Parts: sequence; C-alpha cells; structure tokens
Amino acid sequence: MENVVTKQSIPLLTPYKMGRFNLSHRVVLAPLTRQRSYGNVPQLHAVLYYAQRTTPGSLLITEATGVSDTAQGYQDTPGIWTKEHVEAWKPIVEAVHAKGGIIFCQIWHVGRVSNKSFQPNGQAPISCTDKPLMPQIRSNGIDEAMFTPPRRLSTEEIPTIVNHFRLAARNAMEAGFDGVEIHGANGYLIDQFMKDTVNDRTDEYGGSLQNRCKFALDIVEAVANEIGPDRVGIRLSPFADYMESGDTNPQALALHMAESLNKYGILYCHVVEARMKTMGEITECHPHTLTPMRKAFSGTFIAAGGFKREDGNEAVDKGRTDLVAYGRLFLANPDLPKRFEVDAELNKYDRSTFYTSDPVVGYTDYPFLDSTAS
Ligand SMILES: Cc1cc2nc3c(=O)[nH]c(=O)nc-3n(C[C@H](O)[C@H](O)[C@H](O)COP(=O)(O)O)c2cc1C
Repeated sequence: MENVVTKQSIPLLTPYKMGRFNLSHRVVLAPLTRQRSYGNVPQLHAVLYYAQRTTPGSLLITEATGVSDTAQGYQDTPGIWTKEHVEAWKPIVEAVHAKGGIIFCQIWHVGRVSNKSFQPNGQAPISCTDKPLMPQIRSNGIDEAMFTPPRRLSTEEIPTIVNHFRLAARNAMEAGFDGVEIHGANGYLIDQFMKDTVNDRTDEYGGSLQNRCKFALDIVEAVANEIGPDRVGIRLSPFADYMESGDTNPQALALHMAESLNKYGILYCHVVEARMKTMGEITECHPHTLTPMRKAFSGTFIAAGGFKREDGNEAVDKGRTDLVAYGRLFLANPDLPKRFEVDAELNKYDRSTFYTSDPVVGYTDYPFLDSTAS
C-alpha cells in the first residue's frame, strides 16, 4: 500500500502521451556513448544493456549513432549507414520492444570533433568551418586522439550530408526503431553550424541566426519527410559550449529553433540544461533557462542535464518539462524508475568504465535493487 501511494505522488512516474506513444512514466534513458560497438557495428552485448534499462511504456534514446563514414570521431561508436549496421541493431530494438519499451535512435555526425584516423582514406574531418579545435584533452574525458583541422564543406556539398541523415533515418525505421533523435547538441556538426563562435560562413548557411540554423532545419525537414514528423525528435544544447561550440546569444538561438521546429510538427525537442556547463559536471546553476524555449515549442519537451529524483519531480510538477532524460544515473542504475518509485539508494557511477570496451564491466554489471532481476 505504501508503494502505491508513493508511486501516485511522484510526478516522474505519471503516464504521458507523446504523440502516438503511450509512456507509462517520464524517466527517459538519455543518449549515452559507450564505445562498445566494435568496428562501428552494434554488438549483442547491447541487447542486454538496453533491455536492462527498459520498463513497459518507457522511452529510451540510443547512444549517438553515425550517419555515414565521415561521421565518426571516437573508437567503436555504432553506425547506421550500412546493411550490416541495420541488421545488428535489430535484436537490440526487438529486445526493448519485447519488454514494452519505445526506442529512438540518436543519429549523429561529429563534424570537426574528429581525427583523420577515423576518416575514410585518412582525409580531414568536415565542418562548417576550417577553424580547428584546440589540441586538448577532450572535455568528456576521452583523450586518445588530437583533432585534425577540418575541411570546410562547400555549399554544393551540404545537400549530400543532409541526405545522409535522411538515409540514416530510413535505415533506423528498417531496423525497427520507433523514431530518431537528430543529434543537434554538444558541439557536433549540427551544433557547429548553429553557433556563431564556430560558423564563419558567408553563404546561406552562415551569418544570420536564420542562416546558421538552416542546416539543422534542412535535416529536420528531410528526416520528417522521410519517416513522418511524429517519429522525429531533436536534441539541442544552445546554452552549452562543449567542444568550443558556444553562441554569443543562446537565448535567441533557443527561441528561434523552438519556433522554427513548430513548422515541421516534429514529436519532441530534447534540450540540455544551461547548468551543464561542462560534460558530466554541474558547474553553474541557472535552473529555469529552458522555460522560454519550452513555452515556445508546441511538441513534447524533454529536459536533461544533472537531474536527480527531486528536481526531476519538481520540473515535471511545475510544468517546466514533460519528460526528464537521465544519463549517468541511468547508466549506473538499470532499474532507475523503480529506485525513484521506492526512493531507494542509487548505485554510484564509475567514470573510469564509461568508455571502455569491456562487454560486461561497467556496462551490464551494475546491480538491480532486486539482484535476481536482469
Ligand atoms: C558516458 C556518457 C556518454 C554520453 N554520450 C552522449 C551521446 O552519445 N549523445 C548525447 O547527446 N549526449 C551524450 N552524453 C550526455 C548525456 O546524454 C547527458 O546529457 C549528460 O550526461 C547530462 O545528464 P546527466 O546529468 O543525467 O548525466 C553522454 C554523457 C555521458 C556521461
């Protein structure tokens, strides 16, 4: 009886209708790169990893997944541009569906956050600019490769990259995914185009705010036309400056994107909180920066970045978001919704195994509350 009362009183565990999808709660698995897809091919150990984090009516977003052979910047991240990739995703998607979950594939291009060793024929990575990233230890803790200065895409080449996102979305549908999340956040290719400290173009994809957002919106339009807007989400981080990708007027960027996205009628907008100033650590707290964007966007709103049980509940309760995506807490607590329900202690995440290649350790071996479950 105690549990029933507790469950009813937790906003995070109330149902929510997201378009055609009936979610039983609002605790979303955030996209989490785990670097265990050897040679860019999703592996069978991911079946257990994603299934562990599935509850009936839950929403999961996959780790960032490359749209083409120029999209990679990290070792062993998955792709969705070949038939082999599509086939390899199928058992993972099936396992999530078998437990009643809903799974979106996050489609991704790193742009200049790469090194020639990850590029076909050792060529330079592509971007909106030819400005290189500073050689540095990557802010998310991966430091194995220095960045290679990028090659600026010509205007004529841009439709080809847009098309790669469209084809990736089609492939995701073929693999059985319920939809795709366009990765427009965290300093990668789409974010590089949007942010005025990176984009120094003089064509129709640079200069004004409208022009800088055109690449993102071209992709949204192409993907929505391919698979239907009701299966498309986008992730944005207008307030962050990961990978030296910051904007001098993030609030204007956020509002412009929210209003423009409404024209395409896409399912959701997923935004990283302003307080996440660096990947993985809360270094500044501006708790309500997303509110104007949330008010402007007419679809489902997902907030992410440093949420715990209490502030997640509060954000839903106060109407500041519809859903909350959890990254590190979900990584380390496969039964996170259950733990929130009973207000249980949480497993601590082990940063040292975030990006290691072991198929079990730090991946599928975090314990459940009831350790006999899997
Ligand atoms: C190990 C790890 C991998 C991540 N990989 C991705 C990714 O593939 N795509 C993405 O959009 N964000 C990625 N992020 C960011 C998370 O989705 C999330 O926004 C961030 O961890 C903040 O949320 P949290 O405080 O709940 O962890 C990653 C974060 C971590 C810790």
